[in-house]
Amino acid sequence: MLSRRIMLIYILLIVVIALASLFFLSLITRNTSTRVEKPSGGETNNNDVYTPLAKNYTLKSLADRLGLKIGTAISFSHFDDANYIETIVQEFNTVTPENEMKFVLIHPFPSIYTFSRADRIVEFAEKHGLKVRGHCLVWHQQLPDWITQGNFTREEWIQILRDHIMTVVSRYRGKVYAWDVVNEAVTENGYLRNSVWLRNIGPEYIELAFRLAHEADPNALLFYNDYGIESINRKSDGVYNLIKTLLKRGVPIHGVGFQMHISIERYPDPDSLAENIKRFRELGLQVEITEMDVSIPMPASNDELAKQAEIYKKIFKTYLDSAGPNTFIMWGFTDKYSWIPYTFSESGAALIFDEKYRTKPAYYALVEVLLEELDEISK
Ligand code: XIL
Repeated sequence: MLSRRIMLIYILLIVVIALASLFFLSLITRNTSTRVEKPSGGETNNNDVYTPLAKNYTLKSLADRLGLKIGTAISFSHFDDANYIETIVQEFNTVTPENEMKFVLIHPFPSIYTFSRADRIVEFAEKHGLKVRGHCLVWHQQLPDWITQGNFTREEWIQILRDHIMTVVSRYRGKVYAWDVVNEAVTENGYLRNSVWLRNIGPEYIELAFRLAHEADPNALLFYNDYGIESINRKSDGVYNLIKTLLKRGVPIHGVGFQMHISIERYPDPDSLAENIKRFRELGLQVEITEMDVSIPMPASNDELAKQAEIYKKIFKTYLDSAGPNTFIMWGFTDKYSWIPYTFSESGAALIFDEKYRTKPAYYALVEVLLEELDEISK
């Protein structure tokens, strides 16, 4: 009788031990199996639209190995969002203030400069070892009323331009590696845009702006920056001829920025982009991608997110192959704060992270290109 009881207790003990072992084993395997982050394209897109790679890298870690500046526009207004800050620091090595250095924000009244927001961005960049692109000194938009409605003589206009450029560029001397000196000065047809600067100073305002910026910081790289000039077309021909003429006159201009605001319906032909980069480089210029985003008609479907990723991939690859590892900057990184929905109604989802900071297919497309490039150079 006693031995039967002991037998039963033994059997019970063995069963308990076996169950406990199984339980612990399941815990261990759950913790050690590789966790692969699933990219997602937005609220409603949880299907497999892309095969994710294990994420033991960031864009920055890969770009650093290539000597590539990879960047994003950033805004001081989102600095209280911890995810925002964390993602910038992890993924990018270069930043452009989205608005903080524009005329209306930095020089809102005659002789009044408001530097605090731009200063905060530059301090943040310094703290985290990020390079800063200055944007932008002379543009026809985001101007204060005292400029758009200003009534001055030509000499006074030149003085205003001189004061603005000298003050802003000198303040960030040695902290901003490159400036968009003149932004969007050419029309679709390749002529000079009828801006407040052209009307009041004449075409010489462009040359003047570059010379002044160079005087204020002789080490900064000075850029002409525009949209719609990524392929060979009338506008890029106009920009090409303009810069060629300026260079002949010894104007200090070091590069051209292709903004690359494109959409899944309208994007540059890679061959034409490559040819265009080549001709600008043959002038001795650097070519940077300065504001890329790829907008989608909303709501974005999985197919559209996949197409967007393809476009990011093609453009990035073509750029790296034609311009060498130089500078690739996007106009933001999270769809949460993109300018696109505010500016082009019914368009959006243009960036590489969704509103919840989840990596989208486009993110992995950039990673793939970087891995391919690293593979190439290791051969
Ligand atoms: C945009 C900003 O993203 C918006 O926040 C702002 O309201 C308007 O300007 N080309 C440029 C950028 O050179 O300065 C623009 O930025 C986008 C188009």
